[in-house]
Amino acid sequence: MFRRTHTCGELRASHNGEEVALNGWVASKRDHGGVIFIDLRDRYGLTQLTFNEETFPDAFKVARKLSMEDVLSVRGKVSMRKEGAINRDIATGEIELGINVVEVLSEAAPLPFLVSDRDSASEELRLIYRYLDLRTEELQKFMAIRHKTYQAVRNHLSSENFMEVETPFLMKSSPEGARDYVVPSRIHRGKFYALPQSPQTYKQLLMIAGFDRYFQIVKCFRDEDLRADRQPEFTQIDLEMSFVDEKDVREVVEKLVKHVFKEIRQIEIETPFPKISHGDAIETYGTDSPDLRFDLHLLDFSKWAAKSTFDTLSAPEHSTCIVIDEGEAYSRKAVDQFTDFAMEYSAQEGKKTVWGLGWMRYRDGDLAGGLSKSFPGKLRRELASELKLNEGSLLLVTGGERETVLATMGALRLQIAKRGNMIDDSVFKPSWVVEFPLLERDEKGGDWTFLHHPFTAPKLEHVAMLEADPAAVRSRGYDLVINGLEVAGGSIRNHDPDIQLRIFKLLGMPETEARRRFGFLLEALSYGAPPHGGIAFGFDRFVMLLAGAGQIRDVIAFPKTTSALSLMDGSPSEIREEQLGELGIQILDKED
Ligand code: AMO
Repeated sequence: MFRRTHTCGELRASHNGEEVALNGWVASKRDHGGVIFIDLRDRYGLTQLTFNEETFPDAFKVARKLSMEDVLSVRGKVSMRKEGAINRDIATGEIELGINVVEVLSEAAPLPFLVSDRDSASEELRLIYRYLDLRTEELQKFMAIRHKTYQAVRNHLSSENFMEVETPFLMKSSPEGARDYVVPSRIHRGKFYALPQSPQTYKQLLMIAGFDRYFQIVKCFRDEDLRADRQPEFTQIDLEMSFVDEKDVREVVEKLVKHVFKEIRQIEIETPFPKISHGDAIETYGTDSPDLRFDLHLLDFSKWAAKSTFDTLSAPEHSTCIVIDEGEAYSRKAVDQFTDFAMEYSAQEGKKTVWGLGWMRYRDGDLAGGLSKSFPGKLRRELASELKLNEGSLLLVTGGERETVLATMGALRLQIAKRGNMIDDSVFKPSWVVEFPLLERDEKGGDWTFLHHPFTAPKLEHVAMLEADPAAVRSRGYDLVINGLEVAGGSIRNHDPDIQLRIFKLLGMPETEARRRFGFLLEALSYGAPPHGGIAFGFDRFVMLLAGAGQIRDVIAFPKTTSALSLMDGSPSEIREEQLGELGIQILDKED
C-alpha cells in the first residue's frame, strides 16, 4: 500500500504536475477503449483517475478488471482536465490523476445494491448491509453533521460552565412512561438492573451533590412503540441546573439552539422563542407539538354546529373547523380526499371516529355548497363575519368526541399544508409548550399518571390543590418544539421531599412503596437539595432537523427497525442455555 499523500477530496489546480498517492474505493468506472476513467472515493470526496493503456500498460491491465467498491492504492501525476471535461459539481473537478501504479488492497464481492444510488434498494436490504449504506453520500453527510453537532454542543455547554458527568447504564428503573429494558444480574440471581430511560434521578442527585450545572450526551433506552422519530435506544443531550426557574432553563436552551443552528447551518434563529400553553396548542393546532411554519388554525365551531339544522352536526360533543383562505384551489375531489384522510386518521386513533368532514365555500358574500343548507341565512352571515371569511374561503368542519376531533383536525391541518405546499423546509420555527397538566388519567381512564415524569414540580400556586383537584394542577414542565417535532422536554423538579411524596401518593404509590422504589432520592432530597430543573434534548431528533433527514434512522449509524430489530447483526438473539442457567432464567414462551 502507498501511504496517501492526499485525500480524495483535496487535489486542486494548484497541485498540477505533482506526483501524489491516494487510497479509496472505486465509485464508478467508465471504459473508453484505450483509456479507463475511475472515480476514487473516500470520506472527503472523489478524484478522477485515468488509466492509459499506452503510457502505463500494467496499471491499465489492473484497471480493466476492477469492480465497484474495490479498495485501491494508487500513485500518479496530477494534470489539468481539458476545458470540456471540467466538472464544476465536485471540488476536485478541475484536475485528474494519471495513474502509473495501482495496487488492489481489497476486492469487493458483487454488491447487494449500488452505493451511488440509495433508492436502488429497499430500506430492509440497506439495514442488513448498513456499512454499505453508510458509504452513501447522503449518510456520510448526515453522520458528519451529527459529529459537528456533538462538538458544537460540547464546546458551547462547556463554555457556559456545564460539566460533563457520566452516569450508570446499569441502574434502578427511572420511569419516563415507557417499559424498561432490563438486564439480569448473575451475581444476584433473580435481580435485575434497568437500562436508563433517562438519567433523570442521577442528574438530580448530581445537583444535590453540588455540581450546579451538569450535562451529558447520553444513550437512553425505552421499550415503546416505535415511529419515524423514535428508536428503542436513542441519544439525549441531558442538562440539569441548580438555583434556577423556568426562565433560566429556557434562556440556556435558546442560547444553545441558536449557537448550534449558527454553527451547523449558518442560520440565525430568533430568540426568545414564543410560548404557547398546552391547552392553546391543542385547541389551535390539535397537537402539543405544533408546526408553526404555516398559518392554518383550528377554530372552535361548537357554537355554530349546535345552532345548525342538521342533527349529525349539532349533536356531537365538540366541533372544529379549519378555514383555508385560498380555498378555490381545492376541488370537490380534493375535499373528498381530505374526508377520507380524516376518517382513516380518526379510526386509527382507536377512539370514536369523527362523523365525517363537511365543507362550505364563501362565494359572492355568502356560504354555499356542502353544509351551507344546514344554516339559515342569518346564521350564515353571522358565521362568515365572525370567522372572517374571505371570498374563496373553504371551510372544513367535523365533530365528535373532543380529543378525537382535535387530534384529527390537527393531522388534517398538516395534510392540507403539505398538499398546498405551505411548508418552507428551509425555515425553523421553535416554540415552548408550557402549562402542561401535571397528571392525566391512564389509558384505561382510571388511575392518575404523570404527563412528564414523577419528579416534575407542580406550579407553586397549585400545590395546595394537589389532592383536592389533581386534574386542574398545572406543572412546571416545558417542551421545546421545532417544526412540529418535540425536540426537548424538561421541568423544574420537586426539591421538597414532602411534595414529592404527595405526588407519589397521587400516582398510587403509598409512602412505603415510594420509599422502596425511590428511597435513595427521597432521602437525598432531605440532605439539603437546591431548587433545580433541567431538560433533555432528543439528540437524534435535533440532528434530523439540522440535517433535513426524513427519519430518525438516517442520522443513527446503526439503527433498529420499527420492531426493534438490528437486521445487520440479528439482535435480539437467543443466548446459550448455559448463560440462562447462570442467570437462573427459564424461557417459558419462545418466539418461533
Ligand atoms: P423526555 O421523556 O421528554 O424527557 O425525553 C426528552 C427528549 O428525548 C427525545 N425522545 C426520543 N427520541 C428518540 N426516540 C425515543 N424513543 C425518544 N423518547 C424521547 C424527545 C424528547 O423530547 N428526563 C426527562 C428530561 C428532563 O426532565 O430533564 C426526559 O427524558 O426529543
